[in-house]
Formats: sequence, C-alpha cells, structure tokens
Amino acid sequence: MTLQNADRRLAARVQAVERSVIRVMYDMADAHDGDLARLEVGEPDFDTPEHVIEAAFEAVRSGETHYTPNAGIPELREAIADRYAGEGVSVDPTGEVGVTTGAMEALHLAMLTVVDSGTEVVIPTPGWPNHATQTRLAGGEPVEVPLSADEGFALDPEAVIEAIGEKTAAVVLTRPSNPTGRVFEVDAVGAVAAAAADHGAYVIADEVYRDLVYEGDGRSIAAVVDDPENVITVASCSKTYAMTGWRVGWLLAPAAVSERANAIHESTTACASSVGQHAALAALTGPEEPIHEMRAAFAERREYVTERIEALPGITAPTPEGAFYAFLDVRAFGEETLSIATTLLEEYGVVVAPGTGFGEVGEGHLRVSFAAGMDELERGFDGIEAFARAEGS
Ligand SMILES: Cc1ncc(COP(=O)(O)O)c(C=O)c1O
Repeated sequence: MTLQNADRRLAARVQAVERSVIRVMYDMADAHDGDLARLEVGEPDFDTPEHVIEAAFEAVRSGETHYTPNAGIPELREAIADRYAGEGVSVDPTGEVGVTTGAMEALHLAMLTVVDSGTEVVIPTPGWPNHATQTRLAGGEPVEVPLSADEGFALDPEAVIEAIGEKTAAVVLTRPSNPTGRVFEVDAVGAVAAAAADHGAYVIADEVYRDLVYEGDGRSIAAVVDDPENVITVASCSKTYAMTGWRVGWLLAPAAVSERANAIHESTTACASSVGQHAALAALTGPEEPIHEMRAAFAERREYVTERIEALPGITAPTPEGAFYAFLDVRAFGEETLSIATTLLEEYGVVVAPGTGFGEVGEGHLRVSFAAGMDELERGFDGIEAFARAEGS
C-alpha cells in the first residue's frame, strides 16, 4: 500500500494527532539497558489501598459483573456528590453526575458534548497535551494561551480572557497543573470563569490532582466561581487513591450537559467497569488513613525535591504547590529541551519529560515527577545535579 493510499484511508482527525516527545522519551528509556531513574512517569508508585482491593474482590464474588447504568451505580454517584457537597458545591447525584472510564473519558465526553466543529477550546499552556488532542477529536480547534515562564506559569487572566471570543466553546483549567504543579489563584480563576460565562463558554475544570494541594486554596473551581452552573468538573480516583489502572473517573456538569454526556456514553464504553466502580465506592467512603499516608509521602517528597532544586546550579523551578510535578527551567543551558533530556537519559541515567510535550512554551523546561519513590528521586536528582555541574558554564 502506498503512503498516499494509507493516508486516504485514515481519518484526518487521527492524522492530525502528533507523536508526543514524552512518548519518544518512554521509548528511548525502554530501549535503554542501564538502570535508569524514571522521573517522567505521572503515576503514584503506591499500591491501591487494601480495603479497595478487597471491595473489588467482594464485588466480583457477589456478581457485580454486569453492565451498570450509563451514569454509574447510584451509590457511587451519591458518594461523589457528597464529596463536593462538603465544600459547598451542590450536585444532584441523579442528574448531574456521570461515572466514566477515568478522567480521560470524562474529558472526552465533555468535549464531545460541548465542542462543535468550528468552535475553539482555550487552553493555558504549558498543559497536559491530551486536552488539545481531545479538542481536535471532537472537531474543535485548540487555542493555546502561553503562560509566562518568568511569572512561574501563574494563570494570567488577561491573556486567557483575550483568547475567549465568539467561537469559544470551553476553557480548560487544570488545577493543580500538570506539568507545573501550580495551583492557579482563585481570583484569576474567577475572572476567567466570568469571562467564559459572558461568552456562553464552559469552564472544563480538570481536577485530577485536586486532593494533592500543599499550598494555596485547594477547593474545587466550582466552589470558588460565581456561576458554578457554567463549570464542568472532571476528576478521578487515579492519583488520590493510587488507582490509575482501575480507570474510574467522573464528570459533574449542569443537567443538560450531564444528560447528553451520559447518553453518548452508551456509544463510547456504555459504563465504567462495574468492578472498578465498586472499588471506587470503597475508596471514596472507606478509611482515610491510607490516603493520608500517601499524601504525607508526596508532601515529604515535594520538600525533598524543592531542596534539591534550590541546590542545582543554573536551574530554577516554581515551587510545586500541588500535584507531583516540578517544572525545571533549564533555559540557562542554551540547548534544546529534547537534547538536554536525551543527554540526561544517556549520560546521567535520568528520564524526565521534555517541557515541549506540554506546549511550545515548555521549551527550555523539563518536567520531573515526584510520584516516584525516594530512592529513585535521590538517584534522579544526583544525575540532574551532576549534569548541571558538568554542563553549566
Ligand atoms: C491533567 C490530567 N488530567 C487527566 C488525566 C487522566 O486521568 P485518569 O487516569 O483519571 O484518566 C491525567 C493523567 O495523567 C492528567 O495529568
């Protein structure tokens, strides 16, 4: 088959999806023989808490192995709504919640529901690349708004508001941010949300890291804006409960959006895994200690990472306020980010995610994940420090 034929037989929407440099790093790391410190991975190194695993076994044994309602099992929807009620966000578990296959599917459904061809989705960057891809898959056009490295990638409401216009269907706000670890200021979020509402655009609040806030106001975006009816909230069990592989997330949205999202769910996965949903129910309603322990470990790693960064010659980073990422500014080395990341891997045994994987404005930056354990972090930072001392001028 010629390339031309191959192209003709692939939908334009998938041809437009670019290969991420983060994937390039994964592949290089996998092909590498040596013992590498893997700091590129955004997933907790902890195992899922035992009571959650038990609940899953129990669900299987008691026959919870069938399709569930598209919107998810009622008990889980209630548990999700209760969590938000705790911070003053009123969510109707029967009409405004949909349980999904991870936050990824929640985002996909949200985009398919509110983004039409010819519309735009405003995305502050650096940001998680899937938001732009999902926008394209829904037929929309991502409009990236670069935040300033010199301002530590704080949310710049004026720049974002300037990008909102007639065609805007939604604005994505990821709080805490992947990859910068920033927790956007409540005032800035409020200003952006108000401008979106004025233009009839939704805020899609990606809050998968919401339970990992070390500094700043950790409340949900829906809890801090004037018009929560304009906010579509996406979150999941993945990061909070070390449950990335269980694939359970949720979408909270005004009834009209939620009803349509749950309706099209029938054509994506119909429902999240029944066993996963029972596990998620145990996670949300069971003992909190394992979660506190994981959070405490992340907080400790964040202290460690912050100290190590301070000691790195020529490298700075905004202090991670949330999530488990530090976004290192390596512009002083005057080299392309991918080339620095490659040198780190090949010569110093450390794998990091090149900042350009999160938008062009990420050039000159490297994302380091402290979801990895302390030993790996120590080895990783030893490598980064050796690089900085050897390659710095
Ligand atoms: C910002 C952001 N949103 C969503 C997701 C997807 O989460 P889930 O595992 O629940 O699909 C991730 C995963 O890394 C993420 O970083």
